[in-house]
Amino acid sequence: GRRVTVRDIAAAKERREKWPMLTAYDALTARIFDEAGIPVLLVGDTAAEVVFGHDSTVPVTVDDLLPLAAAVVRGSKRAMVVADLPFGSYQAGAPQALAAAARFVKEAGAHAVKLEGGRRVVPQVAAIVAAGIPVIGHLGLTPQSVNTLGGYRVQGRGSAGEELLKDAKALEAAGAFAVVLECVPEDLAARVTASLSISTIGIGGGNRTDAQVLVWQDMAGLTPRTAKFVKKYADLAGLLEEAARTYADEVVSGVYPAAEHSYR
Ligand code: KIV
Ligand code: NA
Repeated sequence: GRRVTVRDIAAAKERREKWPMLTAYDALTARIFDEAGIPVLLVGDTAAEVVFGHDSTVPVTVDDLLPLAAAVVRGSKRAMVVADLPFGSYQAGAPQALAAAARFVKEAGAHAVKLEGGRRVVPQVAAIVAAGIPVIGHLGLTPQSVNTLGGYRVQGRGSAGEELLKDAKALEAAGAFAVVLECVPEDLAARVTASLSISTIGIGGGNRTDAQVLVWQDMAGLTPRTAKFVKKYADLAGLLEEAARTYADEVVSGVYPAAEHSYR
């Protein structure tokens, strides 16, 4: 089988077929999500938080994310792998953005990149797309701007919704093939979805977007606190803690390793 491409994503929009996206940061989980049929995997800059233990996405670098993106590419067969351009790797302008995007494609084998912002990043999006690298935009709650937004809160209410729609149209005109809409009113997300020919990917944007994305540790119940928009599909934290406790007990009591785990 071949990888999912931007043409498959465009065809899904035409057929009004919704699709799921998950983050991935390592080869083993990438393989599981790939085999589960997730068509697009995002090596998110949320790795800053869920992999590296920072309290925002701001500190993570291209050098931090490159090996994770390479691992996700190696672990998957069918999914399109999208790499997030981290804070500080594209804001300076188109040449800087293209250099960062090209590293993800050349050094990690990523198939597309994602960056945050609307009209202010149009030159960056256009330059990356012109170089032959597909781009996803990201509007609404853009966590790299947490210090400007004043926290993690719903975006695009009232007249800010009109501005967000203009940003979405600017990203489409610049050549982006999709746009993430994070933490925005569902009516706004629906309106943007209906106004664009490219795909919208919601996270906290209601169920009228073309696709959905979640951080996998959130949807699998590994992270302690999550936003209202997260649905927990498993309790991995509970399962893992229980497994670790049982392992510890069995080592202390001598139950593990048993004969079948030993060589004679
Ligand atoms: O970094 C990330 O995980 C993301 C998604 C939540 C959209 O940008
Ligand atoms: Na991100």
